[in-house]
Amino acid sequence: MTLFRNILGIETSCDDTAAALLSDGKIIADRTTRQILHEQYGGVVPELASRAHERLLEPAVKGVLKESNLKVTDIDAIAVTNGPGLSGALLVGVSFAKGLASGLNVPLIGVNHLEGHLWSSELTIGDLPVPFLGLLVSGGHTIMVNVKQFGQYEILGNTRDDAVGELFDKVGRMLGFTFPAGENIDNEALSYFKDHKTESIKFPRTKLKNDPFGFSFSGLKTAVLYHLQKHYSNGQNSDILQNDQTSWKDVGFQIPNDDRQAICAGLMAAVGDVLISGMSAVCDKYEFQGLVVGGGVSASRYLRARFSRFATERNLTLNIPPIQHCTDNGSMIAYAGFRRLMLGQRDSLDLAINPSANLTDQMI
Ligand code: KG4
Ligand code: ZN
Repeated sequence: MTLFRNILGIETSCDDTAAALLSDGKIIADRTTRQILHEQYGGVVPELASRAHERLLEPAVKGVLKESNLKVTDIDAIAVTNGPGLSGALLVGVSFAKGLASGLNVPLIGVNHLEGHLWSSELTIGDLPVPFLGLLVSGGHTIMVNVKQFGQYEILGNTRDDAVGELFDKVGRMLGFTFPAGENIDNEALSYFKDHKTESIKFPRTKLKNDPFGFSFSGLKTAVLYHLQKHYSNGQNSDILQNDQTSWKDVGFQIPNDDRQAICAGLMAAVGDVLISGMSAVCDKYEFQGLVVGGGVSASRYLRARFSRFATERNLTLNIPPIQHCTDNGSMIAYAGFRRLMLGQRDSLDLAINPSANLTDQMI
């Protein structure tokens, strides 16, 4: 038993309102409400996200307490995401956490959202051998990290434009999927690959000349758009590149189902190749014990299979959280908070939000 037996984790950085309780480092209750209201806008509307967090957070916390048969006074510490993310959304979680920590007189710890994703595999498999290559792929980030130990990070590669999840969500709008589109694109690609060995549509794989560990996905997005413009009729699609305010309903192209599957397969294959080529370059230079993948895009069954093959070829242990823990959740925040608390870290009630926080901001 630890000093921090029951830790409440709170996550409100984007459009998931999440709370979880860990007891002795293990999940005992976990509740995430995805704010589906953003679907009609084709992307997250920050002001609406903050208001929805205000409405949904207290029920989420009460829900995890009820589920675990604990009273609010049984909470020994509170971990909360304080960045990166949408400022209004982060403020809701951080203000709530401060109020509760102050009322209960328990320690408060601010957690970097990316650190949460990076270590959430430990919740299922136990200690991750270090150093490992961390690949963070989400709606806002595509990063390769040399993880030397908990709290010691070296960023090796980053995207210079769109994140992979952002690419999926933008292309998803063109294909007529609701937001977020990653899961739909993944499912369509898998249906295609059930009957075909390789993709029939070859989209470009961007390699950056002066940055072998860097990524770029905007060329891929444009290539899909040009492909759609060439072959299908649609609304006012091309604005999507310059102006994200375009009503997403005008963007969908009229595409037969089989073609849509082939496009998703071409997109997924290109993304898989680009990510694996970046990881290969890094693994040629650094020695790692394993590969850890985190972030919403790691829920992709197509990419999970590709990562697994890559890890086997490179003799690396692969750790990816179970699918339900790839997207944003409170457990990963509670867990990273638990690790930091065990190392003696605490935040005061002055804890600030940091919407553009980097993983390397809070090194230990
Ligand atoms: O980590 P996350 O929940 O939120 C951020 O921190 O951004 O990631 C959300 C992203 C979205 O872009 C979504 O389309 C993508 O993860 N995503 C997926 C899948 N599930 C969610 N991408 C591919 N395959 C999936 N199954
Ligand atoms: Zn995330």
